[in-house]
Amino acid sequence: MKTILLIVSALALFLQNSWFSSASLEENCRRIHELDPYQSYDFCVTSFQVVSESHTANLSQLGIIASELTIKNYTHTLVVVQQLLKNQSLSHWQRAALNDCNETYSSGIEHAILAITEIKSGDFSSAASHLDGEFFSLRYL
Ligand SMILES: *[C@@H]1O[C@H](CO)[C@@H](O)[C@H](O)[C@H]1NC(C)=O
Ligand SMILES: *[C@@H]1O[C@H](CO)[C@@H](O)[C@H](O)[C@H]1NC(C)=O
Ligand SMILES: *[C@@H]1O[C@H](CO)[C@@H](O)[C@H](O)[C@H]1NC(C)=O
Ligand SMILES: *[C@@H]1O[C@H](CO)[C@@H](O)[C@H](O)[C@H]1NC(C)=O
Repeated sequence: MKTILLIVSALALFLQNSWFSSASLEENCRRIHELDPYQSYDFCVTSFQVVSESHTANLSQLGIIASELTIKNYTHTLVVVQQLLKNQSLSHWQRAALNDCNETYSSGIEHAILAITEIKSGDFSSAASHLDGEFFSLRYL
């Protein structure tokens, strides 16, 4: 699953290690792709394109923008999942699968909210470690 939350995770890692100073959005997306080849450069650029501030944002601002995009995107998905869960005629496995989705997206939103607080307070190592589990569980969805 392509998800922008993984981009937040990569950015938190960059911030934690102070590897990079300012750079263009394209450059940052190229670095994310180098760090994690599963992250497509095009997906990264396209995701940020909807927010015009991305083009002049530094790494921590990009991390916050990506977290906000994650919250918007996951909230939208959660509404659909929770709507589907209201169906009383779901089979056992259909309900189980939807419950998994509910858990995954609910916890993704919680982590994105936490990441915003941590990035804003400069606590990049907490942001990176919180998102680390997310990083691996989401990649294989
Ligand atoms: C959420 O992101 C996925 C890709 O990760 C995309 O396909 C989908 O259109 C996005 N949905 C919203 C509501 O932004
Ligand atoms: C990014 O810019 C904001 C606002 O100017 C600043 O508060 C923040 O420390 C900067 N972050 C980095 C990593 O340079
Ligand atoms: C409820 O779930 C059943 C079984 O998957 C499906 O056949 C039916 O179309 C669903 N109803 C609604 C309103 O989505
Ligand atoms: C979805 O998950 C959240 C958090 O785990 C839980 O509070 C909520 O009750 C769940 N919603 C449904 C419809 O199962």
